[in-house]
Amino acid sequence: MMRPHKAPVGRPGLQATTLDAVRQDAAHCTRCPLYKDATQTVFGEGRQGARLVFVGEQPGDSEDLAGKPFIGPAGQLLNRALQEAGIARADAYVTNAVKHFKFLQRGKKRIHQKPNAGEIDICRWWLDQELALVKPHLAVALGATAVRSLTGKSLPVMASRGKVLPGLAAKRVFVTVHPSFLLRVPDEATRMREWTAFVGDLRKVRELMEAA
Ligand code: URA
Repeated sequence: MMRPHKAPVGRPGLQATTLDAVRQDAAHCTRCPLYKDATQTVFGEGRQGARLVFVGEQPGDSEDLAGKPFIGPAGQLLNRALQEAGIARADAYVTNAVKHFKFLQRGKKRIHQKPNAGEIDICRWWLDQELALVKPHLAVALGATAVRSLTGKSLPVMASRGKVLPGLAAKRVFVTVHPSFLLRVPDEATRMREWTAFVGDLRKVRELMEAA
């Protein structure tokens, strides 16, 4: 189904009753102009009954080509951190706030661009439907874009890190950094410290899930 660009932003009523139906609908999304340059919509992945959801920013280069979330360098780091924290990725639902890759073409390279507030809010249409169907106990916001999409607020991640905030479509939102933040840390000592802090956040997530 083709939709005009000026379709209302997030918070739809439930449009479809299965994730597969929403996925098929999202595959033809033209709600904002990002679909024009991206290869495809990258929808979330995981079980409809998952109790834990991870929300990233947007697909990267590898995800855009493969059509799957978090399979590139940031995804591999996330997988390692989840394993170290004792969380099985297969038990969770993994998705992004924005479903199309936003980039600048520089020769053969595609350089990641941050989605803006308007793009995040428009794409909440899809995230809200995913969350309405999955109904997780907890949604983990990986970075600022996910925090905005899940809470409706632009909050500084470091001030909210490790806290559980009230969410829009998911009741509870745990805030942590995006794994690509670890990839950008320039020195080894800081990288190790940030890795430990990230795994610590994910251990907290596991504890919250076990206590639920
Ligand atoms: N970064 C994200 O936020 N999501 C992905 O799927 C990959 C990289």
